[in-house]
Order: sequence, then structure tokens, then C-alpha cells
Amino acid sequence: MDKTSFEMKSAIDGPMHVSLKHDSAHKHVTGTAEYIDDIPEPAGTLHGGLGLADRAHAQILSIDLDAVRSAPGVVWVMTADDIPGANDVASTGKHDEPLLATDLVQFHGQPVFAVFAETRDQARRAARLAKIEYRDLPHWTDIDGAREHGAPLVTEPMTLKRGEPETEIEKPEFRVQASMNIGGQEHFYLESHIAFAIPGEDEDVTVWSSTQHPSEVQHMVAHVLGVSNHAVEVKTRRMGGGFGGKETQSNQFAALAAVAAKKLKRAVKFRPDRDEDMSITGKRHDFRVDYDVAFDKKGKIHAVDATYAARCGFSADLSGPVTDRALFHADSSYFYPHVRLTSQPLKTHTVSNTAFRGFGGPQGLLGGERIIEEIAYALGKDPLEIRKLNFYGQRGSGRTVTPYHQEIHDNVIARIVDELEASSDYRKRRKAILKFNETSPVIRKGIALTPVKFGISFTLTAYNQAGALVHVYSDGSIHLNHGGTEMGQGLYTKVAQVVADAFQVDIDRVKITATTTGKVPNTSATAASSGSDLNGMAAYDACRQIKERLIDFAARQWQVNRDKIEFLPNRIRIGSEIVPFDTFIKAAYYDRVQLSAAGFYKTPKIHWDRAAGRGHPFYYFAYGAAVSEVSIDTLTGEYMVDRTDILHDVGKSLNPALDIGQIEGAFVQGMGWLTTEELWWDAKGRLRTHAPSTYKIPLASDRPKIFNVRLAEWSENAEPTIGRSKAVGEPPFMLAISVLEAISMAVASVADYAICPRLDAPATPERVLMAVERLKSL
Ligand code: MTE
Ligand code: MOS
Repeated sequence: MDKTSFEMKSAIDGPMHVSLKHDSAHKHVTGTAEYIDDIPEPAGTLHGGLGLADRAHAQILSIDLDAVRSAPGVVWVMTADDIPGANDVASTGKHDEPLLATDLVQFHGQPVFAVFAETRDQARRAARLAKIEYRDLPHWTDIDGAREHGAPLVTEPMTLKRGEPETEIEKPEFRVQASMNIGGQEHFYLESHIAFAIPGEDEDVTVWSSTQHPSEVQHMVAHVLGVSNHAVEVKTRRMGGGFGGKETQSNQFAALAAVAAKKLKRAVKFRPDRDEDMSITGKRHDFRVDYDVAFDKKGKIHAVDATYAARCGFSADLSGPVTDRALFHADSSYFYPHVRLTSQPLKTHTVSNTAFRGFGGPQGLLGGERIIEEIAYALGKDPLEIRKLNFYGQRGSGRTVTPYHQEIHDNVIARIVDELEASSDYRKRRKAILKFNETSPVIRKGIALTPVKFGISFTLTAYNQAGALVHVYSDGSIHLNHGGTEMGQGLYTKVAQVVADAFQVDIDRVKITATTTGKVPNTSATAASSGSDLNGMAAYDACRQIKERLIDFAARQWQVNRDKIEFLPNRIRIGSEIVPFDTFIKAAYYDRVQLSAAGFYKTPKIHWDRAAGRGHPFYYFAYGAAVSEVSIDTLTGEYMVDRTDILHDVGKSLNPALDIGQIEGAFVQGMGWLTTEELWWDAKGRLRTHAPSTYKIPLASDRPKIFNVRLAEWSENAEPTIGRSKAVGEPPFMLAISVLEAISMAVASVADYAICPRLDAPATPERVLMAVERLKSL
């Protein structure tokens, strides 16, 4: 990996834009980072277990819990009747997600009751002793099934439209209509869900929750307990990965633990094991994309009409914003002169699907890239040539408007792609691969260069706000708190860098503290890659206020002009005098200067009218591109990634080492999604891939054999974001589309590249083998 480019920079910059290590990196690898299950348990702590339905769709006729109650160690068995407030953990306000099922079961594995026992093992064994009688109802678990049953929806669909797609799609010479199936994905965070509730006096309860969204957990716990939000404090120091899987899914565990803790006046911990976690928490949505594209003989797109149908599960959860974001990214990096895009968020009798890195964007983008592949194979051209022909243009080109009527002003995709094409030697390698495939009998190779353009901001405008709390103590040490959560992505480190930079102090002066609803209220989920954009700015605002007061104080005390005061590394220049930071802070304290501030930020410029399908939903875009080269074995369908080169745009990086880590991790996670990770439900609606034995995430050995990751060093955010950086968490996930398309090219070689292989995702070895056989037989 090319690391030298960012090491050089650190010498000349301050605490921002420097490759500082993740604040917990050494604790992660030495096992000293404290996760919720590591917190010392108060005496008498009880452990929860869940009683799960074993039907996909059924009426509950009777529940007999006697054997559960009399099992060893059991202290309490809780059903829906025991819930003091609302039996509802739906994050949408649609009331379609009960905490515990009452008379209706809607997916295999739905929680029906909870057991609390002295040990976790006792709780889990007891939970299996229930006798529940059901009357089965018709169930379906996939998109086809839902369409056969009248295509019921879990939430309102959306349509984006520009131009005259209905009539214009008839005009060009060429037209392709086809479908693509895109599989879902399990988050497979290393730390499974967990909640630990400690009861307080009156109505109070404190819940440690492994959540990306402490405020929502607070609201849900209060709602289920029937108390005000102020009675509930939710805390999160770190998660062992979230990836979107802990945005809404933490609600149920926190609510169950809190109800039991209040009822029993004992601390209660809830931690499902891996199989349960995988069966009862939502995943990435599977999609079916039905596309219709019209283009000219050069490959220029004239019109696109596509429907994006998704398996949403039994309730809405985040399916509305996820399917919306799929449509927002269905254009990938391409201008569609006439376009209509429609979502179809389908109800199925499966666990309710949820956020997962990219939030529907990856599925949208993949559909757009499949369209490019179709055109390339139809015309016998290199897909890269078709891509370049269809990229969004620069201002004034008449090719800058998206299907949602937002103008793109910060387009750098052509530059990124040109630079990567050159640095990866794409042309020469593609020629060599075509030559290799001519004579290689078994092993075939493929190469693909695919772009990413990803819109940054929550599409629900209200979520684009954040708060932070900064205290400077009288010894000059600094306490930092903000609404964002740490799941491994390095947000805490980045925000600490912002604060260290603002005061010009060393990073170890800044104490990073656990996220808690008691310090910063009404926060948004740490999601949509916006954590550092929002919380970095909020923390900066808090620092700015304190600095203002400090400058006022210095001007008064030293009798100098404000412009003669400057924060230098660990000291302050006041006129001609230099004062160490600690001494200066102590003096300010004695002068009764307020050394604490709450900061706030809301993203400017954005607005969105969903009904009209028009607005400016994204503050800016992040860009990137990847070239992947693969080899497949045409006798077995097995493959490996020989080399990947990435050039990615993070604006002016807040921390190049963390950003490169995000890019590498996202790419590999994306590769898993598109190649080996397959979710499989049986006829009864049971998820059969609920453990690493049956669900295959990438191994270290699956990593590209050569892996070159570079940041676009010249990039700066055109908008005044924190340090002119750009969000990095999700966009690079989609760089993995280059792997799928490279596999597709290798498959296509067996039919002389005359047919688009139309590989569905994940392209597992068996799917690759079947595609090879199908193409050979044509
Ligand atoms: N990186 C790690 N190590 N672990 C995670 O769980 N989640 C991803 C991404 N990177 C994740 C991660 C997702 S889904 C998002 S939205 C962003 O981080 C959230 O953090 P940010 O907004 O601070 O980038
Ligand atoms: Mo990320 S899917 O927005 O948590």
C-alpha cells in the first residue's frame, strides 16, 4: 500500500489533516477497549433471553409459559401484557413493530416473550420450554412472493422523473429491457447487540446500549416504559461495529432490559448470541431492478425507466429512506436525459430490513452500472468508453441535472477516472487480458473500472443537525462530548482532532468521552456517513465560543488588541508575551471566564420535497473509482481478485490513515456483499444462514492480492465543511462493484463477449459456474 503520500504531510500540518492513530487502536488489539459486556456488573444482575416464534406468519392461539417460569434460575417471564407503556418500537411512528408479538406472528424468529434469569444460559434454556399454539397464515419471504400476493407495501413508494421518459424511450435505435437480482447482506458486526439497564430512583433508568442512535433508544425506552424522555439516559462508549445494523435494531434489546430493570429493581443485561442476533435483526434489503434503457449507436443514453423493488420484511423500519436512497443513486455517475425511477418497498414475512452501509445507495448504483454493462455488450465496446460518454458534465454542459432535479456543481468524476485509468495502466492491462483469454482454456480473467458518486446528507432534512459539549478544565485539560457514536470508524478521533486544532493543543490533552443523551440531547443517528461533518462542526462551534471568551479575557487583562492574540501550539501569544496554555487557562478561571460551551450545527442549503421528487437533498457529493482484475476458474466457478487500484475523494482528509482504513474496509465489505455473502430462507421462512458456518464473509485471504489505495490529494470540498473534508464511511463500499463487473467480463469471455452475462449478486462460485455453462451453451 502506498503510505508515503500522507506521512509526508503530517510534518507540516497541525492536529487536523494528520494521520493520527485511532484513539482506541492499541486497546482494540490488546483487549483493553471496554465494550458493554466488559462493564463490571452490579450484584444481582439478571440476564435476558428471548422466546421466538417458529412460524413465518401465524395467529397465536395460546401461549403456555409454565415450564419457562419454573425452570432453574428464572426470576421473571415477560409478555406483551407486562409492558407499562406502548408495545411499540417502530422508529417510523407507524406503530407496525411490536416489542413482543401478541396475537399475530409476522416472521420466523419474532420475539413473543422474554425470560430473565440469574445467568444468561439459564434464561436461554428456559426460553425454549414454551408451548405456543398457532394457526398458520399464508406467508411469502421474497420479492416474487410479494408480487404474487398483490405486492403489498410497507411504506409509501417514491417516483423520480425528469423529461419525457414515456415517449422518448421509444425513439433511439437501441433498447434493452432486463432485470437484475441483488442480494441482501448481514451486518456481521463483531460485537452482537447488547443492552445493559441499571434502574435508578423514581422513574429513572440508565441504559448502556450498543447503538448508533442513543437518542432514539432513549425515546423508545421512554415510550415503552410510559415515562418522559428525561427519565432515561442512554450511553454508548463504542460499538464493535454497527454498519447500519445498530441504527434502529438496538431499540428492542434496550427496551426489554429497561422494562425488566424497572420491574425487578435489578440491573438487567440483554445479549443475544450470534445465531439469534442474525435471525432477529434486520439486514440489507435485497432488490430486484427492472430496467429499460434506450441509447444510440455510440452508447449514449437517451432514456431510462427502472423499478427498484425491495424485500423490506414485515414492517417499515428504514425501508422508506433506504428505497428512496436507491433511487437517488440509480443514476450512478451518469446523466439520463429522460428518466423515470420508481421504488416498490414490498412487505414480506421476514425480519424487517434496515440500514446497511450505503443505505440502498449501493443497490441503486449497481443497477445504474448494470445498464452501462448492457450497453457495452450490446455494442461490443469497453464499458469504460460507455461510462465516459455518459458522465455528468461540468457547469454549462446541459448535463448536470439529476433525476431529483439537483444540479451537480462539484463533479470531479472524470478527473478521478482519468487519473486512475492512467495510474492503474488500465488500457494496457485490458488488452493483455483479452489476449490471455484467447488462449487460456480454463482460467479466464476480467478487468473493470467503475465509478462512485454518493450524495452526502440525511434525506430527512431534520436529521442534519448535531450538538457538542466542550469543557476546558482549570488545569488546561479538555473534555469532549458530542452526539456521534464510535463504531470503529474513527469519528471520536477525528472530532478530537478538530478540538485540538481549534485550541492548538496536543491531541492527548483532549479527553474523548462516551456518547450520552444526558450531555447532548436530540441527536441524530451516526449514519449516512455524516458523523464527522455534523459533530466535527458542532464541536468546532463549541470551541469557537470558548476561544471568543478567552480572547476577550486576554485583551482585557493584557490590555492588547484582539488581533494581537494568537493560539500557537500549546501556548498563546498575547501582544509580545507568550503564555503556556495551562497558565493562560488557570488565569482565565481566576477571572471567572466560562470555560464550557455547547456547540451546534445544522447543514445549510439542503431541502427536499418528496411528493414532488424535487429539491436539493445532498449538500455535496463524494466521488471515487476502482479498477479490479480477477481470475475465474471456468470448471468450478471459483475466483480470486488479483489486483485492485482505488482513487477516492475525501476532500481535504481530516485523517488520511483513518480514511484509507475506511476505504479498504468498505471495499472488502462491499466485495463480500457482491461475491460470497448469501442469505437464504427456507420454505418455512426460516433464515438458514445464521452463523459463520453457513454465511461467508470475506477472509483476510480474499483481499485483493495487490491492493493500491490512494486519496485524491488535490481534492477539497467546495462547500465549507469541517476542514474542507468529505464524508468517507459509506461511499467506498460501492467501489466493490468493479469486482462484480470484472467477474462478469471473465464469464463473458467464454461467449466471445457477445452476450452480457447478467450476473446476479452475490456472484457466488456456483452462480459464476452456472453463468459460464449458460453462456457456453448459447
Ligand atoms: N467503520 C467501522 N469500522 N465500523 C462501522 O460500523 N459503519 C459505517 C462507516 N464505517 C462502520 C464503519 C457506516 S454504515 C456509516 S454510516 C459510517 O461509518 C458512520 O460513521 P461516520 O458518519 O462517522 O463516517
Ligand atoms: Mo450507515 S448505513 O448510514 O449506519
